Amino acid sequence: MEGLKLTGFKENKTVDGQMKRGRNEKVPYNTDLFKKGNTISLDTTYIFGTPEETSLSLNDIETLIPRALEAHRMLKREEGDILDNGIPMTGWQDLPEEIDRGHLEEIKSVTEVLSREIDAFVSLGIGGSYLGIEATFQALTHSYFNQLSREKRGGAPEMYFLGQNMDPDYFRDTLDMLEGKRIGINVISKSGTTTETAVAFRIILKLIEETWGKEAASRLVIATTDRARGALRSLSGKKGYRTFVIPDNIGGRFSVLTDVGLVGLAMANIDIEEFVAGAKAMREITMSEDPQRNPALMHAAIRHAAWQKGKKIEVVAVNSRPLYSVARWMEQLFPESEGHEGKGMWVSPTLYSEKLHANGQMIQEGERNIMETFLLLGEHDNTIEIPSLEGDPDGLNFLSARGIDMNLVNRKVMEGPAYAHYKGGVPNMTIEIPRRNAYNLGQFYYMMERSVAISGYLLGHNPFNQPGVEAYKKAMFALIGKPGYEAKAKEMADEINKLGRKQQRALI
Ligand code: PA5
Repeated sequence: MEGLKLTGFKENKTVDGQMKRGRNEKVPYNTDLFKKGNTISLDTTYIFGTPEETSLSLNDIETLIPRALEAHRMLKREEGDILDNGIPMTGWQDLPEEIDRGHLEEIKSVTEVLSREIDAFVSLGIGGSYLGIEATFQALTHSYFNQLSREKRGGAPEMYFLGQNMDPDYFRDTLDMLEGKRIGINVISKSGTTTETAVAFRIILKLIEETWGKEAASRLVIATTDRARGALRSLSGKKGYRTFVIPDNIGGRFSVLTDVGLVGLAMANIDIEEFVAGAKAMREITMSEDPQRNPALMHAAIRHAAWQKGKKIEVVAVNSRPLYSVARWMEQLFPESEGHEGKGMWVSPTLYSEKLHANGQMIQEGERNIMETFLLLGEHDNTIEIPSLEGDPDGLNFLSARGIDMNLVNRKVMEGPAYAHYKGGVPNMTIEIPRRNAYNLGQFYYMMERSVAISGYLLGHNPFNQPGVEAYKKAMFALIGKPGYEAKAKEMADEINKLGRKQQRALI
């Protein structure tokens, strides 16, 4: 039997874009026309007056605006509760202005050299040392990237991510995908001691050294870590790895525009200059003191007003599979920054239509403690027409008769719930990302970083540290018997003993 033919389909534009990037063909992101068509927008039509007791009013926002503005000004002046280990963690604020072209060229040249030597690239890291890279990579590339030919990947190696969990089966499966391939890695950890990343690194490093020898390993391993301190920094010095830096004054979840994100993205042939240009454009916009012209400030004020009204869950819904990973990035940025001192909003990344047939019921009719943000992709890379079917058994032939394609239906998959959920008592706003390109993601990330920073001031706590994450790390160190954590292990054992193990097993 012959293989399937894609009759009636044009070239896949996502692949086309990858191949163009591989040939160094640039998107004209510096032109006014491009900027006009690639501006992120915030639609608040369905925020006010939901038919339920805790609905938001325009007055709620207007009352909050002076506080949000004050937070915005304090942030600009780097004042307030912003220190982590004595360092103001606001380096991300001016970063897009500070990244110089020479540095981007340096990253590109390092990744180009390594790319020629390898078949697959593995990015090792967790939390802020992982999510932004994967989010951007998935948002901008083909959904089955690694299964495409190298030519269709625009010359980029296959891309893998490890170190985000301790699942041996997943790890082993990934190793199977790497077997027989020439690989390069980037191990990313600011502290250099995060267990998941460190364990993954040991295993992969051993394989690299056994396969190609220690000398070759120094060419195949990149380390992205603290400028001067930490285990990974000293190991890199000893082993001669190429290193990139996570700045002191930028925390993990704010680091996607630092070397943490840029190295992996350059390896996947994503245009990092365009990415930084997008962030720079949004930085300029969000410096405004006019709330009507500053979407980050407005976004922060709306979310805070909703939180004050008892909305404790934010569903972040996407209608683009590739953008789902961006919603997952938000799942880190917001709760890790806001979830302090018994406060904060839970962020739930949600893919539509899929989840409309699952938690969609809860959103429509469950407890009214939910707000929703739609991350709407304005224009998909590809257009898919819906054919007519003989006899019209499902009653959908009107779609093809009226020229309604899958793209239009997919937009309604967001607009329909926006209306229905509003009527059901869920205030919601829509952030439209016009197209899948690096410029738009750069804009989006910067807007969200600024919004969550303002949110920290409004909530009254430091959004730049994460003592809760540190707490789990210590408990885990104690449980696996890490030297230095003996007292913690004893304290935990005593407490667990007092609780008494309460476990039931199913009896057959
Ligand atoms: O946002 C953060 O700071 C965290 O999510 C960290 O990025 C994460 O814990 C990983 O830490 P490290 O880079 O030190 O391995």
